[in-house]
Amino acid sequence: MINVAVLGYGTVGSGVVKILSENHSHVSRRAGEEINLKYVLDLREFPGDPVEKVLVHDFDIIVNDPEIRVIAEAMGGLEPAFTFAKKALEKGISFCTSNKVLVEAKGAELIGIAKEHNANFFFEASVGGGIPVIRPMIECLTADHFDEISGILNGTTNYMLTRMAEEGVAYDEVLAEAQELGYAERNPEADVEGHDAGRKIAILASLAGEKQVSFENIRMEGITKITEKDFAYARSLESSIKLLGTARVKDGRYYVIVAPFLVPATDPLFAVNGVYNAIKLHGDMLENVMFYGQGAGKEATASAVVSDIQDCVRRLGSHREILWDKEPQELGDIREYPFRFLVRVEDTDAEKLSAFASALGGAGRLVAPRGISGEAAFLTNPMTETALMKAIEETGVTLIARIRAAW
Ligand code: HSE
Repeated sequence: MINVAVLGYGTVGSGVVKILSENHSHVSRRAGEEINLKYVLDLREFPGDPVEKVLVHDFDIIVNDPEIRVIAEAMGGLEPAFTFAKKALEKGISFCTSNKVLVEAKGAELIGIAKEHNANFFFEASVGGGIPVIRPMIECLTADHFDEISGILNGTTNYMLTRMAEEGVAYDEVLAEAQELGYAERNPEADVEGHDAGRKIAILASLAGEKQVSFENIRMEGITKITEKDFAYARSLESSIKLLGTARVKDGRYYVIVAPFLVPATDPLFAVNGVYNAIKLHGDMLENVMFYGQGAGKEATASAVVSDIQDCVRRLGSHREILWDKEPQELGDIREYPFRFLVRVEDTDAEKLSAFASALGGAGRLVAPRGISGEAAFLTNPMTETALMKAIEETGVTLIARIRAAW
């Protein structure tokens, strides 16, 4: 029998406890050992909940118990998660987590500590909730260089954008729904400003390039400024608007961004709706492969954490190599990466508009969708953001919105 502990009894942690209990014999059989949940750590009390029998408030009870072999963390945030992970791994206790803040900032270091102590640090649930993408990247797709990773990496914003696009539901209302469903971060700014997706694309890009890609160095544009008019233009271009995290290699450098993108109906990401996430990887040999599933939510995310616990149990006494160096990956300036843009500008001066169209390389003006007036919109050829902003500045047009296109 292998004793394990869960840190945090919130949305994901309680999901882990539920799966370990409801699927107990199945989970144990597939791990090759009976898995016994010995402790759950949380600062709160849960009167009347069966978790009371295993609830503790002091991490030292867990880490100092020689029977504990695996710890799963679902508390979120950098501290005390990092201190707990370090202490556990230094004692040879394997550690798995759904905490992308921890993984993005300290993943390389914790993998190193796990290696030194012949233990494992696994983090499947930190990206894409229940979608297995990390294990396939490090175990199955090891023959390829990945030159592009693009994905819908945040369940909350995809749920919101889907409801806004399909039913015209107001922003605040859909955000409240996503919070009620347990998708949103404690501070939903992390979702809507793109920070959550930023951490996830940083983790994926770090694994792809085997060097640290840091969240701080990634351009993040959220969905807070997306309006019904943007959706109307998107529809007229047979596309939708999705918050994408994308990392692309050009001339040997990684260019990484999180931003709303126009996604055409021909792209498989177009059909990814609601809380579902999808991650598309492009390998130099394999070409495209896509992973799809629920990107947030209690059971889906907990399912990935429990798979990590099982893998830790199967590998007790041995370390599974994960290549991720602390050395920073050299990133290209995203302003210099060519994207196609949907640009909306005020329609006040015909001369300025025609100068602007010429500066965009003669991009044709789009027909405004019904109900939109007083503005002009263009779909550019691939161009850099630097060149676009220069064209705006030099021609004196007033920018309303600009959205990159995924094609
Ligand atoms: N708030 C996150 C999301 C949870 O909505 O995707 C899963 O990381």
